[in-house]
Amino acid sequence: MALAEFLTALDDLASRAGKAFADSADNVALEAARVEFLGAKSGQIKNVQKQLGTIPGPDKPAAGKRFNEVKNEIEAAFAAAGERLAREPGQGSKRKAFDLTLPGRPVRLGRLHPLTQTIEELKDIMGRLGFSVADGPEVEDEWHNFEALNIPASHPARDPLENFYLATAKVSGGTGVSPVLRTADTGKMPVPPGEEKVSAPMLLRSQTSTVQIRVMEKTRPPLRVISLGRVYRPDTADATHYPMFHQIEGLLVDYHVTMADLKSVLRLFASSFLGSDVHIRFRPSFFPFTEPSVEVDMQWNDRWIEMGGAGMVDPNVLKAVGYDPDEVTGFAFGLGVERVCARRHGVSDIREFYKNDIRFLHQF
Ligand code: DAH
Repeated sequence: MALAEFLTALDDLASRAGKAFADSADNVALEAARVEFLGAKSGQIKNVQKQLGTIPGPDKPAAGKRFNEVKNEIEAAFAAAGERLAREPGQGSKRKAFDLTLPGRPVRLGRLHPLTQTIEELKDIMGRLGFSVADGPEVEDEWHNFEALNIPASHPARDPLENFYLATAKVSGGTGVSPVLRTADTGKMPVPPGEEKVSAPMLLRSQTSTVQIRVMEKTRPPLRVISLGRVYRPDTADATHYPMFHQIEGLLVDYHVTMADLKSVLRLFASSFLGSDVHIRFRPSFFPFTEPSVEVDMQWNDRWIEMGGAGMVDPNVLKAVGYDPDEVTGFAFGLGVERVCARRHGVSDIREFYKNDIRFLHQF
């Protein structure tokens, strides 16, 4: 190859490479251009370098000198393009002009779940009637969920198929690291050597009435409490059932409490929640922990709706917590939170509450 031809090829290469690097809009394009021109195996520089051998002897030094200059130039152009991209935001993606006249994006505020809103409102209403809020564990022992509530071992409500019982543990005593058994109330119980102990059966509470017992065990009368929380039953989910739901439990124990007090409190409660002068009615019913027991209905929009159960605390329950039934009396009630919330908002399927569909939740 003649020297002149070789030098023209070099100039052409230098300008094409310089342009390719300068035009690279991001690192991907720049890398492609690097391989194209500076690639070690078949980059264009490499190809031109191979032509060097075909230059006639006397012209070789001039050709070699110019080749090195062009190679340095191309490498410098590559380095400069890399620096330029590093300085640009977004790794060299094409910058779009920011249009200050565009309308802003609306900020979507989150809100409380409808059930949480209902719970807060119920607490508020009952708080104004002097009831404070008590809490209890969701994993309960049989004493608080059944026994103390006058539900004996033979009662069908204790059927394992009607409850979520948890597995029991067996711990053998021995030497070495002292073995302990976890228990519901005391926490840990050491198991002496040679003995074997099985943990007491525990279950997911099936009603918030458990909290009545927990409160009375710790407090002397008079007392007024409500408790709100989750309860669990192995029901198949349908429009009105779910294996987990919420209850509000109320308990008032004092001297000379009567059914009339129960009715007054529930009527005030219904009027405050449903927002008008609501009628309520009692239908005779049965619960092991109340005597007499009633089913509570509220009349709303000309329809009677069932709200839950209530009654006068059974003397056996008062005795179980060490109260004297000849001295104090009390009333209790338990209502389903989902039910009152659904009625209030016209929700026909309680499963909607647990789907976490933003379109549903956004309406409340
Ligand atoms: N614990 C009952 C249930 O889950 C509801 C209930 C009824 C609670 C009567 C009470 C009560 O406090 O007095 O079906």
